[in-house]
Parts: sequence; C-alpha cells; structure tokens
Amino acid sequence: MSVADENNDNDQDGREPDAANVRLPVALKIVVVSTTLEVTESLLEMVETMSGASVEVIVSEIGGIDKSVLEHHHPDVLIVDFKLDSPTDLDSLRHIVQHADSDTCVIATAQSSTIDGVRRLMRLGVSDFLPQPINREDLLSALQHAARRVRQSRPSGGGNVITFLHAGGGAGATTLAVNFASSIKDGDESAKVCILDFDVQFGQVAINLDLKGSHGVLDLLEDPERLDAMFLESIMTHHKSGVDVLVAPDVLVALDAIEPEMVVRVIGVAAELYDYVIVDMPLALTPWSQSVLGRSDVAVMVGQLTVPGIRQLRRLAGILTSDGVGDVSTIVVLNRFLGGWKTSVRPKEAEKVLGRPIDYLIANDFKTASACVDQGVPVSEIKKRSAIAKNIFDMTKGILTLLSEKRVVLQLES
Ligand SMILES: Nc1ncnc2c1ncn2[C@@H]1O[C@H](COP(=O)(O)OP(=O)(O)OP(=O)(O)O)[C@@H](O)[C@H]1O
Ligand SMILES: [Mg+2]
Repeated sequence: MSVADENNDNDQDGREPDAANVRLPVALKIVVVSTTLEVTESLLEMVETMSGASVEVIVSEIGGIDKSVLEHHHPDVLIVDFKLDSPTDLDSLRHIVQHADSDTCVIATAQSSTIDGVRRLMRLGVSDFLPQPINREDLLSALQHAARRVRQSRPSGGGNVITFLHAGGGAGATTLAVNFASSIKDGDESAKVCILDFDVQFGQVAINLDLKGSHGVLDLLEDPERLDAMFLESIMTHHKSGVDVLVAPDVLVALDAIEPEMVVRVIGVAAELYDYVIVDMPLALTPWSQSVLGRSDVAVMVGQLTVPGIRQLRRLAGILTSDGVGDVSTIVVLNRFLGGWKTSVRPKEAEKVLGRPIDYLIANDFKTASACVDQGVPVSEIKKRSAIAKNIFDMTKGILTLLSEKRVVLQLES
C-alpha cells in the first residue's frame, strides 16, 4: 500500500520520479546471444532500468544457435553478437532470421560497422543494428520499435485498457484518470495514450485538460457504422501533453443511447491505435458498464476514506467480482486522503470492511487539484514535488507494473 504523507504538507518529500527508468509499452522477453562479457553485462545493466523487459543470456557463438534453441526460448527480441567481417557469422545470422518466429525481432550487434554492412543486415531481415559499445539510447529505441511490432502482432489490438470508476460522486476518478494519462507520458514520451470520456452525460475530461474539441463520442453516436481506426483518429482531440481525448458530448445524452457492442468496438479500435487506453466512466452503472469492464485489463476503483465512501466502494467492488467482467484486475484507490488523526476512518479499518487491501492513497490537496483544472494541466506541472503528485506517480508506476506482469502471464499461457 502506498500511504500518503501523514502530515500531508506539500513540498516536504521532494522525491523526483526516477528519470533513468523507462517502461516499454508491452512486456518483452529478450534473449541475448554473446560470448563477450562486456556486451552481456552492459545489456543486462541497461535492460534492468527498462520495466516490462525480461532478459536471458545464452553464452554462445552465433553459430551455436539453431532452430531448437529458438523454439525453446521463443524470444520477442533476440540480440545476437557477431563479427560483421565474418562470412560464417553472416551465414549464421541469415539462418537465425529465417528460422526465428515471424514475430521475433532480431537485433544484431557488432564491434565495427559500415553503412554497407548495416544495409546488408537490413536486407537479411534484421530489425535493428546496435554498434558496440552499445549505447542506452540506441538500445531503448530498438526495443521500443520491437515493442510496437510485438503489440501489433497480438490479437485484437494489444493496447492496455485501464478503466476508472468511482464510488460516490466527486471521488476524484476523472482527476486521477487524467493525471494517470499524463504521468505515463512523463515516463515515456513515445507511449501512445488516449482517454475515452465515457461519462457521456457529465464528462469532465475536456474541462480538466482545457480542450475545446468539437468532435468526440457524439460523432460515434450519430454515425456508429463509420467506426474504424481512421474515423476514431479523426474525432480525437489532442492535448499538448501528447494525450489524445475522445471527449464526452456537450449535450445531454441518455445513458442507454450507447450500445454495449459499440463501446467494445471503440475500445478495440482504440487499443489498436494506442498503447494505453484510459476509460473514464460515469458514476451511474449503465447497461454497457459490464461490457467496458469485460474489455478492460485493469479497473481502478476510486473512493474516499469516509464511512459512506467505504460502503459505496464495497458495493462497487462486489459488482466487479461478479460474472461477466472477464479477468479484469482491480485496484482500490482512496483519494483526498487527509492523513493521520485528521481522518475519521483508518485505512486498516477500511481494508477490513472491504475485505481486500487498499492499493493507493492519494493526498488531499484541493489547491493543487483545482489549479490543474483551471490551467488544464496535470498536477506534476503545478507542483511536481507535492504529496499528491508523488502519490499519483506511485499509483501510475504500480498500475503499469501490474499491466506488464499481466502481459507476461498471458504470454506464458498462450
Ligand atoms: N486529491 C484531491 N485533493 C483535493 N481535491 C481533489 C482531489 N482529487 C480531486 N479533487 C477535486 O474533487 C473534485 C471532483 O473531482 P473529479 O471530477 O475528478 O471527481 P469524479 O469522481 O470524476 O466525479 P464525478 O462524479 O463528477 O465524475 C474536483 O473539484 C477536483 O479538483
Ligand atoms: Mg468524473
């Protein structure tokens, strides 16, 4: 459990998010083939700072890698160390590319390179070349490229779907959804992130981000048949942080005007286009709530640490464990946490009532939260060192870790 600072005054912790740590948009299994200690050690060290990647080393010459080794390890990314001027090594590399799985990215690394040599590698079907000594930027860019390829090869859009629900009005679900989105971008600028504002009657995402989009959910309702990747892209509003938003209608729409099949299709198309699809749900349960949850990887339940707040949360948690919501993982976040003696209910008591752990507590900080809405920016831009910003950073890190663990499990099961 991540506990907000008990005194809850801002600026006192001052811990900055670890800039050296990056997260890959999907979990990658990397296998390194090399006999050179400097190569394997530097790769292991660099991959350690990239969440979502696991690495195995095969100490072998490139010639020792045959079909059975590839089948046994089944990597997403195979990094092979070889000598560019050795015809035997080039032959072995050709053999590896031919026999590797079609969704395995083969990355070659060698001590010296010429433009002609690299061209020859590309013609062989190698996805990337890393000159030695391997530099972290080059490795990261090659792995990000590989991650996108892997994501595209996975069925029904490999993007992660994270749905924010709230127990009780004004619990802060929209605030957390919006900040979660920008926190992902803060950690990985290249990540493609969108928010679908499915709070169709009172959606606030556009207001929170100061967006003036005239397109969004309403276009889908008016013309559901047009839904495809191109259409969805055309009705997204772009925020300066790089987050795209499907804004809620600015006219009142009946909750049952939306068909369950449509939300599933929208999420599916969004998951083809984006690494992270964040869904902000209305307070009311709708005929399509279960469909959204069934298509989500993680559901974030946002509540408050008060007696009614915990009761409402317990009810919501009950719905999420009912049949028909797939294998969605649930996270409980208590927002506007006052800390210490100022809170009437203790987190431990709330956990007892809920019958499950509270995953994150987010500090109460109305001044910062409302300044965000006024300026259309995330908390990290208003007060990066505040307790609220630190708590949101921890929550983001935890959810992203959960998502990459889920992907590893899915990979192992498939
Ligand atoms: N940690 C916080 N500390 C103080 N105020 C907060 C915090 N988080 C959100 N708020 C404020 O609470 C109010 C409600 O937040 P928000 O709109 O995110 O809630 P919601 O759960 O999405 O509510 P709704 O039922 O309207 O969808 C806003 O004024 C917001 O600025
Ligand atoms: Mg809301």
